[in-house]
Amino acid sequence: MRVLVIHGPNLNLLGERQPEIYGRTTLVELDDFIAAAARELGVNVDCVQYNGEGEIISAIHDARTRYDGIVINPGAFAHYSYAIADAISSVQIPVVEAHLSNIAGREAHRRISVTAASCVGTVSGFGQHSYVLALRALAQNVEK
Ligand code: DQA
Repeated sequence: MRVLVIHGPNLNLLGERQPEIYGRTTLVELDDFIAAAARELGVNVDCVQYNGEGEIISAIHDARTRYDGIVINPGAFAHYSYAIADAISSVQIPVVEAHLSNIAGREAHRRISVTAASCVGTVSGFGQHSYVLALRALAQNVEK
């Protein structure tokens, strides 16, 4: 099983960006953490990060023939990108949304995810574990 993990905008600055919210783990460390969990699950994982909406949409399109599923943290795009929501709806492979912080408990504009409705499910609020839980859920979903 092959899974693509897509990190959205500003997540390249993890570790230095608002550490009180997102923690001190860098993106490289997060990707290592995800890779270790994937190995345990027997999943082949690739991790990418894009700041641009179009790049994320293209990554979703390209993944549809190369991967069995996607874990995506759309960052702030989750709250308003109908284009990314449409891209997720346009591919047959399952997509799970992950957020480091608990978006349901934050500012009003973060409580809504317009991309989540296109996904099979969402994991939010568990820091780096959100990605691993999403990966696990995806592995289960694909097996089913
Ligand atoms: C985030 C939450 C978003 O509201 C924010 O814009 C991010 C990170 C998270 O992982 O908690 O960039 O997606």
